[in-house]
Amino acid sequence: MSETHPRSLSVSLGDPTGVEVAPDLWGLFFEDINWSLDGGLNAELLRNGDFEFTAADRPGWGPLTAWHHTGAGSVEVRSEDPVHPNNGTYVRLAGPVRLENEGFDAVRVAAGQSFRLAAFTWRVQGVGHASVSIVDDAGDAIATAELVVPERGWNEVGVDLTAHRGGNGRLQIDVPRGLVMEIDVVSLRPRGDDGEPLTFREDLVEVLQELRPSFLRFPGGCVAHGLGLANLYDWKKTVGPRHEREPSFNTWGYHQSRQIGYVEYFELCERLGASPMPIVAAGVSCQNLRGRAACIPLEDMPAYVQDILDLVEFANGDVGTRWGARRAEVGHPEPFGLRMIGVGNEDEITQDFEVRFAMIADALAAAHPDVTVIGTAGPQPFGQDFERGWEYAREQRVAVVDEHAYRTPRWFHQNLDRYDSYDRGGPAVYFGEYAARTNRVRSALAEAAFMIGMERNSDIVTLASYAPLLARIGTTQWVPDLIYFDADTVLPSPSYYVQQMFSVERGERMIEVDLDGDLDVSVPSRQPGIARISATGAHVRVWDVTLDGAPVGDVDVNGGEAVLGPVGADCAVDFMLERVTGQRGVAVRIGGAGDEDYFEVELGGWQNQSTVVHAHSDGISNDVDGPHPWSGLSTGVAVHVRAALEGERLRVWVDGELRHDVLDDRRPERRVVAGCAARVAADGQEEYVLRLVNATDDSRDLSIALPGGPSRVVGSATVLAGAGPDEGEPFQPSPVTPHAQVVDVAPEETWRVPPWSFTVAVVRALG
Ligand code: AHR
Repeated sequence: MSETHPRSLSVSLGDPTGVEVAPDLWGLFFEDINWSLDGGLNAELLRNGDFEFTAADRPGWGPLTAWHHTGAGSVEVRSEDPVHPNNGTYVRLAGPVRLENEGFDAVRVAAGQSFRLAAFTWRVQGVGHASVSIVDDAGDAIATAELVVPERGWNEVGVDLTAHRGGNGRLQIDVPRGLVMEIDVVSLRPRGDDGEPLTFREDLVEVLQELRPSFLRFPGGCVAHGLGLANLYDWKKTVGPRHEREPSFNTWGYHQSRQIGYVEYFELCERLGASPMPIVAAGVSCQNLRGRAACIPLEDMPAYVQDILDLVEFANGDVGTRWGARRAEVGHPEPFGLRMIGVGNEDEITQDFEVRFAMIADALAAAHPDVTVIGTAGPQPFGQDFERGWEYAREQRVAVVDEHAYRTPRWFHQNLDRYDSYDRGGPAVYFGEYAARTNRVRSALAEAAFMIGMERNSDIVTLASYAPLLARIGTTQWVPDLIYFDADTVLPSPSYYVQQMFSVERGERMIEVDLDGDLDVSVPSRQPGIARISATGAHVRVWDVTLDGAPVGDVDVNGGEAVLGPVGADCAVDFMLERVTGQRGVAVRIGGAGDEDYFEVELGGWQNQSTVVHAHSDGISNDVDGPHPWSGLSTGVAVHVRAALEGERLRVWVDGELRHDVLDDRRPERRVVAGCAARVAADGQEEYVLRLVNATDDSRDLSIALPGGPSRVVGSATVLAGAGPDEGEPFQPSPVTPHAQVVDVAPEETWRVPPWSFTVAVVRALG
């Protein structure tokens, strides 16, 4: 990006605003999505080591997924007399046979690295040992050991292996001729410094530690309330010996072994110095279960409420209590210090939800008044569930409400003052899941600008966490994410560094900031473009198409996207639509001819049960209206669709019924933003944590005025600066990393702020 003339900018710090910075403001959201737990934080290197995968995890998966075998002997999947009823499937191996596990993509091994191979096994027939090896791509052994197979009855055995060289490996179990053995719960974990198998992948723990989070939310997200009642995250099934835990399918299309359960989660909180923030289902499952949330029957709610009270007792109770004693039994007599708990996640705010939420919240308030209950306000930062969620939270006197926003960078820049006007007499805000879409520098800076707004309002916004946190490259269901990784690489995104820069340097009391310069970038008005239709997941017939009343004729949309013709900034599109085959519906785009500004109307998209309008800008999409429930497109049933664009207003009718009436937000984007919090340094002097975003093409020559009159400003700064807004991709190394800078600015001098940058300076007055 070519450097233009620096523009001037001045920041003047005034008096404290009276807002104390919320001590828990910056935390982490952790959900098992994108293989972030099994295949991620969980140090286990084998996939499906317990043979518990099923088609419920993913069609086509089963007990032998990730396993392969060769040899004249046999591998039989069995379920009689399992290791434990919760671990009902295992294999019987009759030698000569070789069983191999491919790991999560490869078992990556470093020279000299040591591992613990553990399994439950027993000898059905014959004598002898099985041999276990880690082999490389070519099948050559990197590490080998003998596995003694005990006599009748399931026994847990373990053996250590040390790699004599590095490589991309897989695990082999060789059973010799004459030996018949059963095996289950096979595990391969690196050994830590103490020689014990690791629970967590250490490089991932380190990258989380460097974020210095105040809290750690778990287990979701959608995983918390699951798809259906059997899939609600049940904490009691995740504690105790690993082979006794009950696995489940993962709502993101894979398997939850639950090897990292509630104890490991609480222990991770301890290692990170973060307060636990469990999220429990509000007695209802995720509404994305074919459009309906499943509800725990009211007569079963007391037992469910008791489970939640037991979780709090498990975390905090004295060892003399039932669940405190259980905590001690699983190795942690000290309490975990649970101070907050979320009830529900993005739920549809229905009568069913409200009744169940109240039962849980009331019971928590009565039994644990010192634990803060966090409510929920739907998946969007606006709309029906958001409005009703907030209204209900006020009626119910919920302490904190969890808001979510996955939006474009533009949305964040347009909404920096979102919390300035929130009612200080009502619940506080937990901005619990957010990300500016894409992993570009533009998005990271938009988040930084918005975070300045949250910090300024941290009397009302008391908690915030970016989402999702982790994503394994190649097995990702959701982008953008904060940190990407594969078997041995960790790639923090630009947004990661923004989070870190907020969390590491925190002030205590907000200070008035007067920022002067060119702060806003205007949003251009809509230009003429084209109208187009595409069918996603359906074969459709489209006919009687008109543009502004002029016939276009019939259109074939089945070869991809069909262009109906050019349209102005104001236009009307009409057509008849009928599905011939398939499950879903169509998308209609009106506006920019390429990837520039356009509206997209989805008619019967995901699950064919709703209509939704997206607005695209800067090549990034926001859902701006809906999803509104719809009976869906039925095969063989024709519907009439009309979409009318008048400048920034789009209206959509289906069979004469107005389904969408939406005004796109074209307010200018505030792209130059500053915030400041003061704190008392170790030497007793006041210092200022000054945050500054410059999300424009121009550098700025900044003059800084600290409270108390002109002075030399000294200190240090951390600067994250990009060469342009559109650098940065998911799964790639970040194009930007923070660098340290000395600050020493005399009263008449200025300090150069680079374009597309975020700066956190810790400064004080000298002299
Ligand atoms: O963060 C990914 C998902 O986004 C969460 O599971 C859900 O709460 C939200 O829709």
